[in-house]
Amino acid sequence: MNVVEALVAHHATLRQLYRQAETNPSKFDTFIQHLVVHHTMEEKYFYDLLQEFDEAEHDALEAVNEHHIIEMIIKDAEGFPRDHRNFPIKIEGLGEYTVHHLDEEEEEIFPLASQLFDAADLDTLGGLFEKAKDQLLGVSLPELPKALAAKFPGLYANAEAAQPQTRPRVSDTALGLGIGGLK
Ligand SMILES: [Fe+2]
Ligand SMILES: [Fe+2]
Repeated sequence: MNVVEALVAHHATLRQLYRQAETNPSKFDTFIQHLVVHHTMEEKYFYDLLQEFDEAEHDALEAVNEHHIIEMIIKDAEGFPRDHRNFPIKIEGLGEYTVHHLDEEEEEIFPLASQLFDAADLDTLGGLFEKAKDQLLGVSLPELPKALAAKFPGLYANAEAAQPQTRPRVSDTALGLGIGGLK
């Protein structure tokens, strides 16, 4: 998966998490964690390089500046009482600005980047983005000993090949992570 495909796929996750947070404010933290991780990785593996192209410098800087603005909206929302009846308005404001940002990236910036980067570089950056995202949002669980796994054939069709399970637990990760380049 190249970096543009990887970013678009994570955008779909962000839109879904926003929709969930709109009707269930308890999902707000998950939405924020994905959003912060997305911006951090997007800047490190995409915008830091894209801004080196003259044709893309302005758009890249503008997008990173929008990350700054989103970070300020996040801080404002995080300081608002969760049980206040107006908290959903804070989620809506953050979500609407974020979706606008995602749309602009997909419609204007990603097509330009796809022309400017070599295909091999897009693939390399996509691999790095995916690996870093998985490390920040997922927790690798230790593998069951084969002898124990073999006692539960219903769970492990092939106990000899019992693999470590990876289960997203965003509540345990990415805490305290700042948005890259925004400090
Ligand atoms: Fe972005
Ligand atoms: Fe993005």
